[in-house]
Amino acid sequence: MGEHIIFIGFMGAGKTTVGRAAAKALDRRFLDTDRLIEEKAGMTISRMFETLGEAAFREEETRMLMELLNEKGPAVISVGGGLPLRRENRRLLRMLGNVVYLRVRPDTVWKRLDGDATRPLLQGKDAVERVKSLLGDRGPLYEAAARLVVDVDGKTVGQIIREVEEKIRKGME
Ligand code: S3P
Repeated sequence: MGEHIIFIGFMGAGKTTVGRAAAKALDRRFLDTDRLIEEKAGMTISRMFETLGEAAFREEETRMLMELLNEKGPAVISVGGGLPLRRENRRLLRMLGNVVYLRVRPDTVWKRLDGDATRPLLQGKDAVERVKSLLGDRGPLYEAAARLVVDVDGKTVGQIIREVEEKIRKGME
């Protein structure tokens, strides 16, 4: 098994914020699949969805996980909210290391992402209902992909990181 720490979870769960802070605390490199895909494609994810379609973006996510298997040295990796939905991706995630599911409630997502224009899946009307229904569908898949689950609602980044470290340590005992 790989040695990385990988954060998965719904949009707005704090994967990037927590991932970046955890990388700093552990003195590791921080990688974010959304940013890596944007750099490689030379366009934003919104633009990718518009011009190439969601399916092309999903292909890039799987390709990126395969590339990350060659990443040397333990890193902290955050992945896009829809990445764990493919069975193949869940397998690759587990190969990369310790998969941590940052579990968030729909109301927290909504508070955090109200007015955000960078998530194509949450644009337009009925976004509140969409968050609820997507989270309902995805929750079991996130749980299937993860070794650890941490609830994030109402917690500070520091609290979340301490909980992650504690759970990883316990899992290793
Ligand atoms: C997506 C989540 C986004 C990004 C894309 C699709 C999803 O990442 O990959 O907009 O399907 O949940 P974040 O979870 O980092 O917002």
